[in-house]
Amino acid sequence: MCPPNFFGVLYEINPWMHRAVAVDGELAREQWEHLRQTLEAAGATVEMQPPVAGVPDLVFTANAGLVDGRTFVPSRFTHPQRRLETVHDISWFAARGYTVVPLPEGTRHEGAGDALPFGGVLVSGYRWRSDAASHALLSSVTGVAVRSVELVDERLYHLDLTFCPLDARRAIVAPSAWDRYGCRVMESLVPEPLVLDDHEALVFCANSVVVGTTVVMPTCPPRVGAQLERWGFDVVVCPVGEFVKAGGGCRCLTLALDVVLGPSPIAVQRDAVG
Ligand code: ARG
Repeated sequence: MCPPNFFGVLYEINPWMHRAVAVDGELAREQWEHLRQTLEAAGATVEMQPPVAGVPDLVFTANAGLVDGRTFVPSRFTHPQRRLETVHDISWFAARGYTVVPLPEGTRHEGAGDALPFGGVLVSGYRWRSDAASHALLSSVTGVAVRSVELVDERLYHLDLTFCPLDARRAIVAPSAWDRYGCRVMESLVPEPLVLDDHEALVFCANSVVVGTTVVMPTCPPRVGAQLERWGFDVVVCPVGEFVKAGGGCRCLTLALDVVLGPSPIAVQRDAVG
């Protein structure tokens, strides 16, 4: 995670961002601290990336890149404002001994925000921020099969706003954000989906962090909470309203470091995020 010292809505690159809407810096700090403490209380170890002035969205570490064991594939951002983050992301991972494998220039892919492992494959979103063409490249870098899902609702512009793997069989899904083929891909991949309606998806329910059996959510409508509890999960709501002003929820504020991609059994334990 990266503390929000320099966070703000300083430009508009998604439908949620409006420069005219002020971010309350103190409240953002409180919400971020509460999220960090909640993840730690659930059993996660949180590693810190130092904040940097002039790159307000660096707090959304999910977009730094893709982690596969000790390999880091840095994002190729769509917007020039976010491309400034990459040098900081690469130096963080390089300093910790990760092998940094860049995607070719001219590709677009926004890291774990648009790619989540499930069922032995990597599910990757495309259209608003990542290109479908990047998926074959990701597959050759990681050696894992990539399933492509087209995102059709600009308000849900990253895959992690529409899909939250919970365990080997279950996931929170928002099919209204996917095209018909994407819906079919996900139907065949997820044996037990918790299907969000439009409203539930738009309050970023799917942008949750799973640590063991704890689901840390930016918001949780009663129906969704009841199903998660029936399945044996503990739900903890961590309001992150200041970050929603920039189009991000809880999960966007984290990047899982304990991810090893590969054929099943897939390692997607979320007990170390950073
Ligand atoms: N303001 C950021 C952007 O538009 C928010 C990123 C949200 N991250 C995510 N993984 N969904 O890029």
